[in-house]
Amino acid sequence: MFTKGNTSLTRKTKLLPCASSVLLVAAACAQTESSAIPGDQEVHERADALLKQMTLDEKIGQLSQLFVFKEPEKVEDAVAKGQVGSLLFVTDPAVINRLQHVAVERSRLHIPLIFGFDVIHGFRTIFPVPLAMAASWDPSVATKAQTIAAEEASSVGIDWAFAPMLDIARDPRWGRIVEGAGEDPYLGSAMAAAQVRGFQGEAIGSPGHVLACMKHFAGYGAAEGGRDYDASYISETQLRNIYLRPFHAAVEAGVGSAMSAYMDVNDVPATGNRWLLQDVLRDEWKFKGFVVSDADAVKSLKTHGYAKDLSEAAVRALNAGVDMEMALDFTAYARNLNAALNSGKVTLQQIEESDRRILEAKIRLGLFAHPYVDEARAKEMLNTPEHRTVARLAAERTAVLLRNEGNLLPLKNGEYKKIAVIGPVADSQMDTIGSWTFQENLPETVSMFSGLRTRFGGAAQLNYEPGVQISRKFPSFFDEWFPLKPEPVWAPEQARAQFKKALSLAKSSDLTVLVLGEAQNMSGEAASRNSLEFPGQQQQLLEEVTAIGKPVVLVLLNGRPLNITWASQHVPAILEAWYPGTQGGNAVANLLAGDVVPGGKLPISWPRNVGQIPINYSHNTTQSPENQGKRYWDEESAPLYPFGFGLSYATFTFSDLKLSQERIKAGQTVEVTADVENTGSVAADEVAQLYIHQQSGSTSRPVRELKGFERIRLAPHAKKTVHFSLGTDELTYWSSATKSWVEEPAMFDVWLGANSQASLHSAFEVVE
Ligand code: BGC
Repeated sequence: MFTKGNTSLTRKTKLLPCASSVLLVAAACAQTESSAIPGDQEVHERADALLKQMTLDEKIGQLSQLFVFKEPEKVEDAVAKGQVGSLLFVTDPAVINRLQHVAVERSRLHIPLIFGFDVIHGFRTIFPVPLAMAASWDPSVATKAQTIAAEEASSVGIDWAFAPMLDIARDPRWGRIVEGAGEDPYLGSAMAAAQVRGFQGEAIGSPGHVLACMKHFAGYGAAEGGRDYDASYISETQLRNIYLRPFHAAVEAGVGSAMSAYMDVNDVPATGNRWLLQDVLRDEWKFKGFVVSDADAVKSLKTHGYAKDLSEAAVRALNAGVDMEMALDFTAYARNLNAALNSGKVTLQQIEESDRRILEAKIRLGLFAHPYVDEARAKEMLNTPEHRTVARLAAERTAVLLRNEGNLLPLKNGEYKKIAVIGPVADSQMDTIGSWTFQENLPETVSMFSGLRTRFGGAAQLNYEPGVQISRKFPSFFDEWFPLKPEPVWAPEQARAQFKKALSLAKSSDLTVLVLGEAQNMSGEAASRNSLEFPGQQQQLLEEVTAIGKPVVLVLLNGRPLNITWASQHVPAILEAWYPGTQGGNAVANLLAGDVVPGGKLPISWPRNVGQIPINYSHNTTQSPENQGKRYWDEESAPLYPFGFGLSYATFTFSDLKLSQERIKAGQTVEVTADVENTGSVAADEVAQLYIHQQSGSTSRPVRELKGFERIRLAPHAKKTVHFSLGTDELTYWSSATKSWVEEPAMFDVWLGANSQASLHSAFEVVE
């Protein structure tokens, strides 16, 4: 029998003969080796065999996914009746096994559940947030991190990660900008594919991996005013050239599932949007996985004013192409699809198609053969020092050095005898790990203060003062489900005293590391802002500490660009550390010490202040920059720091840009090379970035578009030739004039350099 702890049925192990339960569907049980991932034909046949035996209620049941935050026993009955296909938010391996036993032993057809969870930037080991990962400009870092995240999550029985989040975001007010790769479709696509590879491994069903889920399909990142969940209005041109590109890259990389977004896009809710889910996703891109709705997004179709009731909501979502409904308590599908079928509003074939996609995923994942997890192994897996090392290396690669006047950094060991570490997030473990974290082991998280103390403590005395407290004006709905440890709020008098204490610490120290930014719950879902100022009294603290006249290093912990215009003029050194994860403090200490040289680059244009939003490097020109260059009379038109920007402790030069041809025909390729030299005195990384501009065409084209990048490491004075290709993939765009993908005859500018303002230039022509 399949009793708990029967390791013959645990994952990553060989399966003994397909056990005694005669009712266990033979076809679904055929997978006997965890390494033997069945082929398409076999998967199809096994799903077919199951479908033939399923009742309508069981078929509808597979399309339902429920949250389980607590009281898992409450869903057992529904699981036993085959009314649920998936659960999310269960993370205890014992509970997962218990519920899986109910599904496998008590449900009529023994169909296992698929367990989903938000594994966004780590499970137990927390990696830098996705925006930071994009700042590494190194997709292999994302693959490594998501491989480990998958390994840890799958060890407790999670089969499916609701990631990668692929929403292009150009408005830092939007809290969820932290979850994606920033503003650019090319960088976003590279990070998308890299994450899919990390989560899924070689193929869906690879041991120690999970099913990936690209989200939120599509257009969520353009929410009006940066207000979370608000409608977005995006032209088809922008959708295809910008917002959809990372999703397409994920499909090409073999992503197994997609999540439909919450909001309206061009007045049609993404979760009821047949154009997106059927025409683009399935018909054009040939996506073969399944689509789950975002939480309660099917029921929300009524809130949107798109469906008149939940029954119509269920019909419109299924008709649009949502296979599985994610819901907090009951699903609209469970309550309405039966009647909808009887009245002819949906067909049995549609329901079965959705079932087939879900069953196929379960078969590919090996859930029928290995439904349970090894609880003992989960414990081991969740305490792996090697994982923490990878997290530190990732954090070191993601930090971006924004300013370093007079080469204040790296800090020379022993030069500063007394170091003050000041700021409300400087010794906060929670604010070091960032937004989507539920399973972290907080005590093992290294705060900035703790990392700095370890690294510099031998030669210097380090002291910490928070200086100010920060908090949200309005709480998040997350606080209700995942209550934060309440911190006593300072009375006004105490707040003044704390501020003074921080100032006097800075005065009596030789150097201050100011760690400012946002608390963990100020970025992420339901965490949009109407300002980019430092929350609370942090700006005042920054100005007063700087006014003391001692050297100041500003370390930023945040999930979005903040207004650091003042700091960029007055504070000598600024390091953007994002939310760097479990090992954040050690990583930042190594960077400040120069043990590691910063090499990250901004994945977003950094606005001077909130009024410049949205601002992105890849805009159209529309008026001559020479004559009418100023877009505002009260502010510069350019961002504070351009997309792709980041300093190093070394310096680099780019030279000798060469194109293989001056003229090509559409369909041919130009090879681009240039030399990059480390002209500094330390080994360091540089990111070679290739940008193009199409000078004329059936529509206006952006001033620059990223079309290639490579992060390279160079010893002092070493030189390397970087190589890129520009062909159909890079030169094709969606034209609003022809309503098609075009590669047009035109002159193309090419720039190669260290950021989106690179000046090394050449050009070539595409002829008919
Ligand atoms: C978020 C999704 C997430 C889901 C499940 C939703 O509120 O938008 O990104 O995957 O919850 O937690």
